[in-house]
Amino acid sequence: MRRICIAGNWKMNTTISEGEQLASALVERMKSQSATVDVVLCPPFPHLQSVGKALEGSALALGAQTMHFEEKGAYTGEVSPVMLEGLCRFVIIGHSERRQYFAETDATVNQKVKAALAHSLTPIVCVGESLDIRHAGSFLSHIESQVKAAFDGVTLGNGSEVLVAYEPIWAIGTGLAASKEQAQEVIGSIRSTLKSIYGDAIADFIRILYGGSTNAENIDSFLAEGDIDGALVGGASLKVDSFAGMVEKAAGAGR
Ligand code: 13P
Repeated sequence: MRRICIAGNWKMNTTISEGEQLASALVERMKSQSATVDVVLCPPFPHLQSVGKALEGSALALGAQTMHFEEKGAYTGEVSPVMLEGLCRFVIIGHSERRQYFAETDATVNQKVKAALAHSLTPIVCVGESLDIRHAGSFLSHIESQVKAAFDGVTLGNGSEVLVAYEPIWAIGTGLAASKEQAQEVIGSIRSTLKSIYGDAIADFIRILYGGSTNAENIDSFLAEGDIDGALVGGASLKVDSFAGMVEKAAGAGR
């Protein structure tokens, strides 16, 4: 059985002290739930040290929001996998905001997935379609090609070392979440694509999250779908009550 994972992507929000307070409050609130649900906090880079300290001794894990694929070099402003190794366990790769505003492509996503795995970081690989692609009806093939590109030449052990997040761009930050049927359709199709690459045993081990306007009210409906293993949460991860509420619902989901 795949353990549910609820990951919070703070994006470019919170000051250092707000981040510390949020992390400490979440640790306090989630003492029991984090025994059954994997909880990951992905704050901005400058917070990794202080939020990491706040999480020490707890079951909550730390993640970064992106990284470069090179180990070092003249890449002003970038952060390398070597710098993250040992500092956090997870790294979000290929978020649609990175693809949209920072020119990330399927090719760089693939390089980053390989670099993360080479440095003992667990990538949360993001895929998702725009509204135009959804309306054109070609979203399943679009996402299949994103998944195939992201995992091109990537060798996996048992599948537990990567996560995939399906985040339809039209659902991010809009308050208009996908329906559970829409999310399950795409996530089921992602699992089929992963089966075609890695075989059933490994693909059945890979956790696939849904992201896009999730909250404590709608998380239940997604977790009732067989292929949806949790959520990558934006806005609702910035408030203790809403994020803890999601984790509490996940802990009660009986998986
Ligand atoms: P929202 O939950 O704010 O829609 O953001 C989703 C997201 O982009 C998480 O990575």
